[in-house]
Amino acid sequence: MKNKKTYLAEVYLNGQWMPPQEATVSVFDRGFMFGDGIYEVTPFYHGKPFRLQDHLDRLKYCLEQIKIPFDISILEPLMLEAISRSRLATSDAAVYIQISRGAAPRNHYFPDNPKPNFLMYAFPVELENFSGKRWKVMVSEDFRWQRCDIKSTALLANTMMKDDAISDGYNENLLVRDGYFTEGSHSTAFFVSKGIVFTHPEGPHILSGITRKVVLEICRDLGIGYKEEALALERISEVEEVFLTGTTTQITVVSSLHLKGKEIFTSQKGQITARLQEEFLKRTRG
Ligand code: PDD
Repeated sequence: MKNKKTYLAEVYLNGQWMPPQEATVSVFDRGFMFGDGIYEVTPFYHGKPFRLQDHLDRLKYCLEQIKIPFDISILEPLMLEAISRSRLATSDAAVYIQISRGAAPRNHYFPDNPKPNFLMYAFPVELENFSGKRWKVMVSEDFRWQRCDIKSTALLANTMMKDDAISDGYNENLLVRDGYFTEGSHSTAFFVSKGIVFTHPEGPHILSGITRKVVLEICRDLGIGYKEEALALERISEVEEVFLTGTTTQITVVSSLHLKGKEIFTSQKGQITARLQEEFLKRTRG
């Protein structure tokens, strides 16, 4: 499962397209030294971006939150170019964007007049067939910081958790902070209890997922009841369905949840998840 290969033709770094092996930044880049940067992942279904404006709005919000000056109006044509240059216009792909604060003498405080390093590339991703996918998920303590709404490249906590999950034979983590489920290590969490869909409210403890927003829109449109309310770990026995969402995760069914090796949830029929998946496919492929 580990060390999957990713094929990359070209990357865009600070105004130029180049082979990845030629793309370099300073060792004093603050992204390298402090994780002082922002990233974004936007899906492209057969060459067409999905919810591009939402992804750009989130990127802008995150840049403002950490005070990196960057003009996002240049991004859309470059993202399309990344897709066509990587010959990904007729298959499914995603565009990765990363903006760090750039190189500066190592001080904790932000430098004056920063020169951000801007990296972008397109990569192939399988966005099909998620309806047959079922994930075995490990429940982990959410020991991340208190600004999970910022899509920061500083993902050490997320990567530590995910590595634990993969090493122990799980597909993803479901995180718990102060007794309540927050989200996955790289996905949004949803629960269905008595026919109502629950997901954690937006705020500093989760990333405002774009797929999350789409799923809630679908709930509204299909008349499925939902609550943006955190679910307590101790209420897991009242849950009938669990699913995780994200740009690459799409809508993935959780088959079972495991806390310290003990199974605490096994999925039942999953009718609501199936309806949401069906409608999500229509919207992303329409
Ligand atoms: N994950 N929460 C976290 C911590 C994430 O890293 C992600 C995204 C999400 C879902 O957000 P969105 O629906 O906007 O992708 C929630 C990466 C990008 C992914 O799974 O593709």
